[in-house]
Amino acid sequence: MRRPAVLLAIALAALLAPAVAAPVHQLSSRNKLLLVSFDGFRWNYDQDVDTPNLDAMALEGVKARYMTPAFITLTSPCHFTLVTGKYIENHGVVHNMFYNTSSKLKLPYHTTLGVQGWWDNGSVPIWVTAQRQGLKTGSFFYPGGNVTYQGEAVTLSRKEGFLHNYKDEAEWRANIDTVMEWFTQEGLDLVTLYFGEPDSTGHRYGPESQERKEMVMQVDRTVGYLRDRIRLSGLESSLNLIITSDHGMSTVNKNASDLVELHKVSNFSFKDIEFELLDYGPNGMLLPKEGMLEKVYEVLKDAHPRLHVYKKENFPKSFHYANHSRVTPLLMYSDLGYVIHGRVNVQFNNGEHGFDNKLMDMKTIFRATGPSFKRGLEVEPFESVHVYELMCRLLGIVPEANDGLLSTLLPTLREEAGDAAPSTSLATPPSGSALLPSGRPHLVTGLLVAAILLAKVA
Ligand SMILES: *[C@@H]1O[C@H](CO)[C@@H](O)[C@H](O)[C@H]1NC(C)=O
Ligand SMILES: *[C@@H]1O[C@H](CO)[C@@H](O)[C@H](O)[C@H]1NC(C)=O
Ligand SMILES: *[C@@H]1O[C@H](CO)[C@@H](O)[C@H](O)[C@H]1NC(C)=O
Ligand SMILES: *[C@@H]1O[C@H](CO)[C@@H](O)[C@H](O)[C@H]1NC(C)=O
Ligand SMILES: *[C@@H]1O[C@H](CO)[C@@H](O)[C@H](O)[C@H]1NC(C)=O
Ligand SMILES: *[C@@H]1O[C@H](CO)[C@@H](O)[C@H](O)[C@H]1NC(C)=O
Ligand SMILES: [Zn+2]
Repeated sequence: MRRPAVLLAIALAALLAPAVAAPVHQLSSRNKLLLVSFDGFRWNYDQDVDTPNLDAMALEGVKARYMTPAFITLTSPCHFTLVTGKYIENHGVVHNMFYNTSSKLKLPYHTTLGVQGWWDNGSVPIWVTAQRQGLKTGSFFYPGGNVTYQGEAVTLSRKEGFLHNYKDEAEWRANIDTVMEWFTQEGLDLVTLYFGEPDSTGHRYGPESQERKEMVMQVDRTVGYLRDRIRLSGLESSLNLIITSDHGMSTVNKNASDLVELHKVSNFSFKDIEFELLDYGPNGMLLPKEGMLEKVYEVLKDAHPRLHVYKKENFPKSFHYANHSRVTPLLMYSDLGYVIHGRVNVQFNNGEHGFDNKLMDMKTIFRATGPSFKRGLEVEPFESVHVYELMCRLLGIVPEANDGLLSTLLPTLREEAGDAAPSTSLATPPSGSALLPSGRPHLVTGLLVAAILLAKVA
């Protein structure tokens, strides 16, 4: 009977000394984190469709009016920004496609997901950082999650099969079930989960189509299923959930009388080009042959009012894109609604992304719920580089050097160690809540610690 008494005394001492109580609290109840990305979910896709589950999430958590993705607004580059906190020129995943301007090798998106050297280019993503600090992580289909970084792999990972059907709702649910098991049975602390919709449907049918609206309903049902599963798995009070995406989607003006077609530009010749990366939506890169840079630049720079061509060193710095060795000496992008056609017109999508990230059609979503987040809070727009610092804070890990600021999203979190306290962020806080003694969470913690210690000895 003596030991429990001593332990109780220690716990009670902790009660009276908040500085001591805090680390105990952190050790005994580190929250888990699930980052979910629904590819190509434009910021306002919930405005012309009934989305009861996303709406409930906003009421019970945090919602950004919209989130600004990195430029270029492509899947792999933007997803890697989320898990590194770096602008694209600082992490080096500058395109969905692996390419090598010397060997001329170009690999499609899906193949590139498995090219370790494309991803492991000097930046360490959050999975590896978390593992180095003692956590266990998983990646389910998330771009960049299925390769090694500085020799280290994510604890558990799944890669999409080659002919993966992106929109199979039954498979989505099975994947969610697996992720729940990763948390409850495998003891993972962080999982990133990726869905290839509504991007695929947005490309194929266009962002204003009925098909896209139906896919957004499917996404919403999936959010409902996910949150039910979190509750049923007993994770509700210990798992923070972030739902976000990589970029938006815009309608392609396929029948425009002024298509951007490089093969029709007078005095432009592919004979002057050593390497090209074109026919990928509104983005293009060119490596002119030796001595041809000036000529190619001169013929292209004012060739089309919808086309913006730059020498690498003059590319607008605000994009944080061109300052990387992988970016070619000439690069270009087109206006909303226009894609860049190269040697022949081979692009037939009704929806595209890749455009200027300042355009509203490229903005995307950010939603979060869980024990660490405030309730019913809508925040002003922010850039996606800041999500990484938030995630490191949620996991209690030290971040790598990055381009984000913790201060941007810190206001979305409840007060420190206040996880068990009622929300203070509702529009009308319960009267008197501001007067609650700040020691109250420590009291709860201290009693819990005492109870746990006593239970262990008993
Ligand atoms: C690119 O190709 C060249 C020539 O084949 C080769 O020497 C180089 O290692 C390749 N670089 C990468 C990153 O694959
Ligand atoms: C990044 O990849 C490029 C080739 O694409 C290579 O030249 C460069 O050394 C790599 N940097 C790091 C830090 O891995
Ligand atoms: C990639 O995913 C497969 C399963 O889809 C897994 O067996 C493999 O270990 C993963 N590799 C890495 C480096 O994560
Ligand atoms: C574009 O043209 C195709 C056939 O040339 C037609 O089927 C389609 O309806 C047109 N789209 C628009 C938006 O006008
Ligand atoms: C194309 O090149 C020729 C010969 O250099 C020149 O006379 C002509 O003005 C150029 N056309 C355009 C549209 O630049
Ligand atoms: C470009 O990147 C290099 C590192 O690769 C850095 O030293 C330099 O400051 C950057 N320049 C600009 C203008 O950001
Ligand atoms: Zn995408």
